[in-house]
Amino acid sequence: MQYSKKVLEHFAEPHNVGTMDDADGVGEVGNAVCGDVMRIFIKVKDDRIDDIKFQTLGCGAAIATSSMVTDLAKGKTLDEAMTINRDNVATQLDGLPPVKMHCSNLAADALHAAIEDYRKKQAAKAG
Ligand code: FES
Repeated sequence: MQYSKKVLEHFAEPHNVGTMDDADGVGEVGNAVCGDVMRIFIKVKDDRIDDIKFQTLGCGAAIATSSMVTDLAKGKTLDEAMTINRDNVATQLDGLPPVKMHCSNLAADALHAAIEDYRKKQAAKAG
């Protein structure tokens, strides 16, 4: 299997790894096929993603795509971040082997889940 140089770079030195105790939203998704799990934590300020961290128990492609998703989402408005999908992630990484495309879905889905979690909490606060 051939990975692009960018995938290997993000795998070797992933950006924004870690957890957040005071996250405004947390998204967790699992992949039923491979059993990998990904968690994304976001801090929101003025409707923008002010800070973002991820934790991935998964394959190299899942780690590289999580790293890329967090880079893409940082500083974006929530609506903009919701438009990030597996195709943008794979393109930014200069492609992924076809059998690994589902791994990039995991990262985008976890980001969307974190934003939905944040929005749900805000709606609950507003009563
Ligand atoms: Fe499971 Fe990549 S093989 S996310």
